[in-house]
Amino acid sequence: MSCTPPSLKFRRDITKCFFLGVISVPPFANYLVFLLMYLFPRQLLVRHFWTPKQQIDFLNIYHDIRKKSHPEILSYLEKVSPLISEKGLRWHMTELCTKIQRGTHPAIPDILALRKCFSKPPLGMSQLHASQIKALSRAMLLTTHLPSFLLRRRLKTHTTVIHQLDKALAKLGINQLTEQEVKSACYLRGLNSTHIADERCRTWLAEWLQISCSLKEAELSLLLHNVVLLSTNYIGTRR
Ligand SMILES: *[C@@H]1O[C@H](CO)[C@@H](O)[C@H](O)[C@H]1NC(C)=O
Repeated sequence: MSCTPPSLKFRRDITKCFFLGVISVPPFANYLVFLLMYLFPRQLLVRHFWTPKQQIDFLNIYHDIRKKSHPEILSYLEKVSPLISEKGLRWHMTELCTKIQRGTHPAIPDILALRKCFSKPPLGMSQLHASQIKALSRAMLLTTHLPSFLLRRRLKTHTTVIHQLDKALAKLGINQLTEQEVKSACYLRGLNSTHIADERCRTWLAEWLQISCSLKEAELSLLLHNVVLLSTNYIGTRR
């Protein structure tokens, strides 16, 4: 992902090379490395070894993993909507869930109308149920094998970083990005962008930024859910 700082990526690649180095010295036979590479190509091959075709295949595999959590995340929203105290907001939430479940891509105002309920129970970042925290972690491709207070903290950090990147990106302007950078930025924010035309990716990213830049720190739970809300039904994503 080109959004990872280069130094981090480099360090991770070095770690992998180190690991490969260790397992290729005796008593481990050299062929074991190739067997492992064959069994775990995504974990062991550093990025630079990948062909573009492989990169797309891997992004597809990862997207498949995160997509599996979408129905669970949406049904949680549906389940907790009766607990929203304001009647208008409750109605908006039900509408949005129904719309998305029927395959419609929501409009920006549909999502922003709900910002208030994502800053307090039951949808605020600190009040989300552990099951939803797990599902959202999966949607962000983060491991779920940690206690939920750690998952929550990590999701919070992740979302805050994305929010800051968004503000910087909005200032810079999307037109300053190359096609590849736009695709990566969209992928990072939940879109299966590998096969979507550049123009469409830019439109999607602009929608995302408009939502993100309207949100306050306290409403970041909405940005996190937006990874699902905005990406599920975007053109060419649903089969
Ligand atoms: C991503 O989009 C491509 C092109 O529309 C599609 O072929 C692929 O199945 C999608 N991947 C997933 C995991 O949905």
